[in-house]
Amino acid sequence: MTRIARAICLGLVALVASCDGLTPPEALPPPLDTELRQTLSRWGAIPIGSMPAQNPALVDLGQALMFDKILSGNRDIACATCHLPAQHAADGLSLAIGTGGTGAGPSRTLGPGRQFVPRSAPSLLNAGLGLNYLFWDGQIARSGFGPPPPGPAAGGFVTPAGALLPAVPNILAAQAMFPVVNRREMRGERGDLDVFGNPNELAQYGDSQFVEIWQALMQRLLAIDAYKAKFAAAFPSVLPGALGFQHAATAIAAFQMQAFTKTDSPFDRYLNRDDAALPVEAKRGALLFFGKARCSQCHSGPFLGASSFSNAGVPQLGPGTGNAAPLDLGRGGLKDQSFYKFAFRVTPLRNVELTAPYMHNGAFPTLEAVVRHYNDVTEALQTYDVSQLPPTLRDTYHGDDATINAVLATLDFRLRTPLGLTDAEQRDLVAFLKALTDPAARDLTSLIPATVPSGLPVEP
Ligand code: HEC
Ligand code: HEC
Repeated sequence: MTRIARAICLGLVALVASCDGLTPPEALPPPLDTELRQTLSRWGAIPIGSMPAQNPALVDLGQALMFDKILSGNRDIACATCHLPAQHAADGLSLAIGTGGTGAGPSRTLGPGRQFVPRSAPSLLNAGLGLNYLFWDGQIARSGFGPPPPGPAAGGFVTPAGALLPAVPNILAAQAMFPVVNRREMRGERGDLDVFGNPNELAQYGDSQFVEIWQALMQRLLAIDAYKAKFAAAFPSVLPGALGFQHAATAIAAFQMQAFTKTDSPFDRYLNRDDAALPVEAKRGALLFFGKARCSQCHSGPFLGASSFSNAGVPQLGPGTGNAAPLDLGRGGLKDQSFYKFAFRVTPLRNVELTAPYMHNGAFPTLEAVVRHYNDVTEALQTYDVSQLPPTLRDTYHGDDATINAVLATLDFRLRTPLGLTDAEQRDLVAFLKALTDPAARDLTSLIPATVPSGLPVEP
């Protein structure tokens, strides 16, 4: 095409849809897309690759284990009680409720004498993408991503078990070794009776007797014929006597990777060069996210997060963790990490629309509330409105001046200046966050098995 013809064509393009026969329409993107694509490439926003298919026998075993309350000391809670398909692999609660609780999802209530789990249950959606860190404080990490473990990092992963961790194939399997050890989540307290009134043999061990707890769990599982068969199918080359809880964890991880990897959002399709995949308000929102609103200064890379920690000025609430209780120092509470006071993992954001409430303690019920917080973090923390919390948690908000000032003292420098976003800009930003949803993640209820090998009831 000659220069003149192209100039005429460019001039006409505002009036006609395309210059048939001269220039294909995709060669002339509207200015919004040009600007957005340049911005995205500057920030390294690239499509997430697909997940390799997992071995079906592993997935089948993992699905049974994920939904089976036999993994809990009192036989009253499964992984899926806190990571419910009906709640997009989270629980819809601000703070999770462990063993002793009743019900599932947002209406779950604490058992008598029990305390809230100090943090919110994250969704398992996309947890299997091979992140460097898991947990809000990154306590489970790939070696080299610290904190320094109590002993040598076993098998390439840093975990609370140090050198006691058996070999596991991936970080998600390393993670699956730990909810069963945690007293408040799944294991229960010394002296607890299980749902049948029998002594809870898992609760008698000390908190660092990892190996004994994992062995006791395998005894439970391998006493059930259906589990024996499923383990044999999943691990044909492992002799029954050599099966350990790391094999269960490997299967749980395979199930999560297969079932919860959901990366085909409109944003991903846009990254794969489909200009029409994003509505215009989401495109404007994306320009804000990667520009004026400064979100991408932390939420960057293919997952829009997951590789660093920062103090985002989130209100403190709940029972807290470790020596700092009732506060939660986040990563700063881990050994030798005091630099990270009140810092939490920058949350990866795919499918975030589906997994309210938000932040490490569910302090915000909606994405609109999250964006309002970011618009002026200092002011938002000073004026946090507890009425957005469920009534059972309002009393646990730590809104005293000393706590607020302590959080603000180490607030990430990138959040110290108000953003000055208008209401319309905040709406566009939320529209962008909603364009991170894979439609296939909206209804996960087909993953719920009708029964599990122990015969214990499955959460609806
Ligand atoms: C009592 C509710 C509860 C139960 C039961 C539970 N979890 Fe969780 N899960 C949580 C909470 C809370 C966190 C966040 C903990 C933290 O960051 O300190 C979490 C974190 C995780 C993560 C890390 C996700 C991420 O992005 O960092 C994975 C994976 C996970 N759980 C899988 C499991 C598996 C597998 C089981 C069963 C073996 C299980 N959970 C049982 C509440 C629960
Ligand atoms: C200084 C780094 C930083 C910046 C800038 C930042 N974030 Fe975050 N973001 C975080 C951290 C850290 C968390 C987790 C904080 C916590 O739980 O205490 C988080 C959490 C979130 C969550 C909650 C996710 C969930 O599943 O609970 C959303 C949504 C979010 N950010 C969106 C944004 C948006 C939109 C912007 C821009 C307006 C932004 N972030 C700017 C660091 C940052």
